[in-house]
Amino acid sequence: MVPFNVAPFVGEEFEYIKQAIEANKISGDGRFTKLCNKIMEDRFKAQKVMLTTSGTSALDMAAILCDFKPGDEVILPSYTFSSTATAMILGGAKLVFVDIRPDTMNIDEKKIEHAITDKTKAIVVVHYGGVACEMDTIMDIAKKHNLKVIEDAAQAVMATYKGRALGTIGDFGCYSFHETKNYSMGEGGAILINDPEYNERAEILREKGTNRSKFFRGQVDKYTWVDFGDSYLPSDINAAYLYAQLMHADEINNNRLETYNAYLEAFKPLADSGRIELQHIPEGCVHNAHIFYIKLKDLDDRTKFIEYMKDSAIYAAFHYVPLHSAPAGIKYGRFDGEDEYTTKESERLVRLPLYYDIHKEKRDLVIDCALRYFMA
Ligand SMILES: Cc1ncc(COP(=O)(O)O)c(C=O)c1O
Repeated sequence: MVPFNVAPFVGEEFEYIKQAIEANKISGDGRFTKLCNKIMEDRFKAQKVMLTTSGTSALDMAAILCDFKPGDEVILPSYTFSSTATAMILGGAKLVFVDIRPDTMNIDEKKIEHAITDKTKAIVVVHYGGVACEMDTIMDIAKKHNLKVIEDAAQAVMATYKGRALGTIGDFGCYSFHETKNYSMGEGGAILINDPEYNERAEILREKGTNRSKFFRGQVDKYTWVDFGDSYLPSDINAAYLYAQLMHADEINNNRLETYNAYLEAFKPLADSGRIELQHIPEGCVHNAHIFYIKLKDLDDRTKFIEYMKDSAIYAAFHYVPLHSAPAGIKYGRFDGEDEYTTKESERLVRLPLYYDIHKEKRDLVIDCALRYFMA
């Protein structure tokens, strides 16, 4: 059996979790949360990083920090997870979906300007599979129209665009540390903030609307409820799990890349012959091997492929049903322009098992089985 995903585990998680418990500090913002924030700030050259309870809650925070007013619109791709959209609804915005590029499955930067109205306030980009969106163009558009940029970098931890860590380019970046991600804490995430102007509001928002963080730093002598807030800080037990993984970030990344490259080598001849398509990595982008996908001819071909793999107990998975065609997408949003690629390409894509420390034998089973499908 080859599962689609196994949560990353490096072995030191137990020890750090034990330390968190022994320190009698298992609520939020304990030692391990601070260590994780610091590691990410240093490594990714981020002005501010705050762990959150999920990637979704990081997106929630980003949306609330954008301070949308009734009627404001946000541009985003339809090919993404529900969290990208639902966070913007929470923040009070209307959704305007834009088509993707077929080569990266990322928002098509050339189609963004057409969707901008006098109500547009932000662009949410999703770095699908840890491959960067065309950020120079997108940041230029945002600057020209005075829009905020939120990077949904849920899948993009450790990936870069022209040398810059994804999540640090826009106004806000959002990471996920869900168990399906390259680095995990079970459920968790982080918000990255570019402009220090937002640090204090973000702290208050994350801490139930209180200025408790200021109090702990000794900047005020009592803490109180100062603004709207929610509870977005994770337990230090979860942070302890993540800390172990961040300490082995390169090892995890390299291990995943090794699997990715083995798949690439195995499937490249099929791509060269035109039977399948593979993920394109544009120049200047360094990916993090979050996903290895292949694109088949159509929905029927993909359904048969997934069934064929499943018959050998190998679990390949597809996603996403485009949001603009989902019930909530119809209720909350509209698609700007023509859906040239979103639906068509999403129906062709299937992801192969790819997780940290996947056994070479299992990886080869995946390759052999998939190649047999194409020979049949
Ligand atoms: C693109 C994208 N955005 C947001 C999320 C939400 O992250 P989380 O599951 O940590 O809430 C995910 C992953 O689940 C994702 O893949």
